[in-house]
Amino acid sequence: MDLRVVSAAARDVDADWLIVGVPEGGEWPDELVALDDALQEQLSRLREAGDLTGKLAELLIVPDTPALKSRRLLLVGIGSPTELSVTRWDKATMTAVRQVSSKRDLRVAFCVPEQLGFLSRDRAVEVLATALIVGSQGQDLFKAEHSRFPFAAAQIVLPESGDVGSASAASERGRILGDAINLARELVNRPPHEIYPETFAARALQEAISCSLMCHVFDEHRLEAERFGSLLAVAKGSDRPARMVVLEHRGGGPNAPTLALVGKGVTFDSGGLSIKPTDGMLTMKCDMAGAATVLGAMTAIARLKLPVNVIGYCGLVENMLGGKAYKLGDILTARNGVTIEVHNTDAEGRLVINDVLSYAVDHGADRLIDLATLTGACVVALGEDVSGAFTNNQAWCDQLLAAAKTAGEDLWQLPMFDSYNELLKSDVADCKNVGGRWGGAITAAKFLEKFVGGKPWVHLDIAGPAFASSSKGHREGGATGCLVRTLVEVAEKGQS
Ligand code: BES
Ligand code: MN
Ligand code: ZN
Repeated sequence: MDLRVVSAAARDVDADWLIVGVPEGGEWPDELVALDDALQEQLSRLREAGDLTGKLAELLIVPDTPALKSRRLLLVGIGSPTELSVTRWDKATMTAVRQVSSKRDLRVAFCVPEQLGFLSRDRAVEVLATALIVGSQGQDLFKAEHSRFPFAAAQIVLPESGDVGSASAASERGRILGDAINLARELVNRPPHEIYPETFAARALQEAISCSLMCHVFDEHRLEAERFGSLLAVAKGSDRPARMVVLEHRGGGPNAPTLALVGKGVTFDSGGLSIKPTDGMLTMKCDMAGAATVLGAMTAIARLKLPVNVIGYCGLVENMLGGKAYKLGDILTARNGVTIEVHNTDAEGRLVINDVLSYAVDHGADRLIDLATLTGACVVALGEDVSGAFTNNQAWCDQLLAAAKTAGEDLWQLPMFDSYNELLKSDVADCKNVGGRWGGAITAAKFLEKFVGGKPWVHLDIAGPAFASSSKGHREGGATGCLVRTLVEVAEKGQS
């Protein structure tokens, strides 16, 4: 997609769609008044009729605009400028972009308002660029008739006083983030017969080469030699062998600390012998979203050339019920020697990333973040749109929560009281892999805590937000690419 930043009056911009933000309440800014003049007060009349209120993400199409250089106009409400935030601007821009991306080969132009409240101009441009990339990409890879098309060209239009130089850099950053989000979305949206540990690893290698990341793929023999006992147990029920992908970005030099990002990559979760019912299994291609998010974030970190050291790890298995499948009552020995009694083969994610976390700790991680579609309990607790955060180190978690806020993504911390450990006790092993009915998201996190060797760590449960059951005005159904932005933000800011 040809994406550029220009500085011009809205009426002079040539595009198939001109998109203009409209504030709610108060006087219209000069650029909107100028546009209204060019349209012979048509906008004022629409406002008086109550059709143009400026309410957040409200859309109004003006299908024919002979007075403008652009063919059509789309007005999108941005709410009150004093309340404008990254999240609200993201919602407005995504809604507008999705509205106009349903036809092939369109040229769009999006005017950045003069009054942005607390949002800086560059930040608004970045978020808009990401929306142009993400909002124009659908999940209909396999449909004869596509419903969403990337734009042939997109212009980000600054008011005539705008500094195009710094905005162009912001737009480039937004594009990189958008591509990273779309990569994560694509991998999650692809069906499980296409994406299994070997094909995920092959794709990761290809992406790594394209952005100069170092990439190693561990096959099942290497994982065996490295004693990934619990990860390999989960993989046993599948004909597809396990993999681990290691992606390395060394932008910070030898003395800078290393951040490790660990992703759950269960390419399909049937539940194993504790098999899932049909409804619960249907969307379980999404169970590698953590790994896809890590891969997406790593490509962005590399392309942005962040001056930090980050290693991304993807733990990849398929959870199936073949004749060699791991069983209830099995006792597994994880990489760090902890023994685990299996009470439920559907609690497999924690048995995959625990070994990956312990490997990361042994290979120089100073701080860790893991991402996993880990528990339905987290969705019950926080709903479908909010990720759960769990930590053994409040200061590190606070940095991550701050990064999520900056990135405009919703994240909420849950407690990690010692008492939850009681629920994981086993009579025959060091622990069992489930903690029972109550506090399921937290007991899963308490389980993982045993494998991080006391290093600062945050676990992110993305079971709700990673995969959307239906489309909404501001986002496509299916994979969302959630938290890619937050990871990039924390990698950039969190090394002090
Ligand atoms: N992959 C699932 C969790 C999940 C649920 C992800 C819904 C996305 C949407 C995970 O492996 C799982 O099955 N968890 C079990 C744990 C239980 C057996 C302790 C769950 O949540 O039911
Ligand atoms: Mn499961
Ligand atoms: Zn799972």
